[in-house]
Amino acid sequence: MLDRKRTTVDWIDVVWLLFIIGLAFLPPINEIHKQLILVTIGVFQFFEGRLIAGLPKRGRAYSVLIKIMLATLLLDHTGEMGINSSYYPIYYLPVVTAAIYFGPAATLFWTALTSLAYCSFLYPALQDYELTAEGSYQLAIRILFFFLAAMLVNRFVVENRRQVARYQALSQTLEETNRQLQRAEAEARRSERLAALGQLSAGLAHEIRNPLGVIKGSAEILAQKLKDSQPLSSELAGYISSEVNRLNALVARFLDFARPSNLDLRAQQISEIVDRALESVQSQSPNANVRIERHYAPALPEILADEQMCERVFVNLIQNAYQSMEAAADGGERVLRLSIAPESSNGREGVGITVEDTGPGVPLDLREQIFNPFFTSKKEGVGLGLAIVAKIVDDHRGWIRLEDNSAPGARFRVFLPASQEKS
Ligand SMILES: Nc1ncnc2c1ncn2[C@@H]1O[C@H](COP(=O)(O)OP(=O)(O)OP(=O)(O)O)[C@@H](O)[C@H]1O
Ligand SMILES: [Mg+2]
Repeated sequence: MLDRKRTTVDWIDVVWLLFIIGLAFLPPINEIHKQLILVTIGVFQFFEGRLIAGLPKRGRAYSVLIKIMLATLLLDHTGEMGINSSYYPIYYLPVVTAAIYFGPAATLFWTALTSLAYCSFLYPALQDYELTAEGSYQLAIRILFFFLAAMLVNRFVVENRRQVARYQALSQTLEETNRQLQRAEAEARRSERLAALGQLSAGLAHEIRNPLGVIKGSAEILAQKLKDSQPLSSELAGYISSEVNRLNALVARFLDFARPSNLDLRAQQISEIVDRALESVQSQSPNANVRIERHYAPALPEILADEQMCERVFVNLIQNAYQSMEAAADGGERVLRLSIAPESSNGREGVGITVEDTGPGVPLDLREQIFNPFFTSKKEGVGLGLAIVAKIVDDHRGWIRLEDNSAPGARFRVFLPASQEKS
């Protein structure tokens, strides 16, 4: 790349050095100033990269300026009159350097300045000699060649720069597409896992439900019958009944997760659904001491959604946020941030909803697993909350992601397509 900072010596610099050594062995050979200037040009060539790296703003201009000065000095020491020196092509050095570093206008400016430096030798020469027509043509031709070389090199460099920018943009697009593909693959894998587990749990839950009903009914009858004659047995039968209730609730959750989706889709305002979900969680944990921050964009598009299912999505997410902040022992402020804004994803219009908490967040190694059914890090957890969320969001043709979050806490982002969208 042209803008690459050259801080190391490369082979081109060595070739440069060889050219300069060649010049040193051409007449006037014993002119010490000439040799010194050539050495300076050679040394400067080595350190030019560092100068530009050290002074990224002005380094290039300084570099061209120094080369003009060195070239002028060289001409001064290689001819009786500088204007007649056969070393005048040394001026191609600053001219080409400017053409490489700058755009067309600046290249013209630097070439004009170089030509001016060259013409400055006219002044002492005109003191003793007259400028012939032949001489002035030659001077004009030389200067015009400076401009020709400058514009040719610059054109090539600018075109090259454009190509590099094009390839960079292309590679960025490719990278982004690659990332999207990987994400889509991960989501597809998750959906497959969910589908397989869903079928299994549906079958199991269904089979368990019937015997549970019989056990519960029998336990209740036993408790009733033994209430007076055997109070201890009656109490035990009561335990059976209440534990069956718990099992039933669990089975109901399995079925929630596994049931083939039968969505009752209607146009809904997502902010109302999120607010209802929040109220529901708040009523379950009234002493949670969580500050709520709402960032709802005005004029949100309606979404086509099953109201109850969607509410479940946000109840589960908000519940997790509350639980994670309760579990955090640091005693810091607990904040639940809910944001809703219009969003487009892969060309589809919809709304993006973010649920963000100030809890401990999800450890990096668990990020892939938290959406798996029955994955839980909680004592009392079942591990179905996020699996249900993912399934409902999938059924709505949206997506859910746990976002990278540099701040502590977890940030879940849900996308749901707008209702006007045609399927
Ligand atoms: N906001 C959050 N902050 C930190 N970890 C979270 C958060 N939300 C989810 N997790 C992690 O993801 C795991 C799975 O969550 P999920 O809701 O599926 O199950 P659960 O909350 O453990 O149980 P339940 O089935 O009762 O919801 C949690 O156990 C927890 O480790
Ligand atoms: Mg949960």
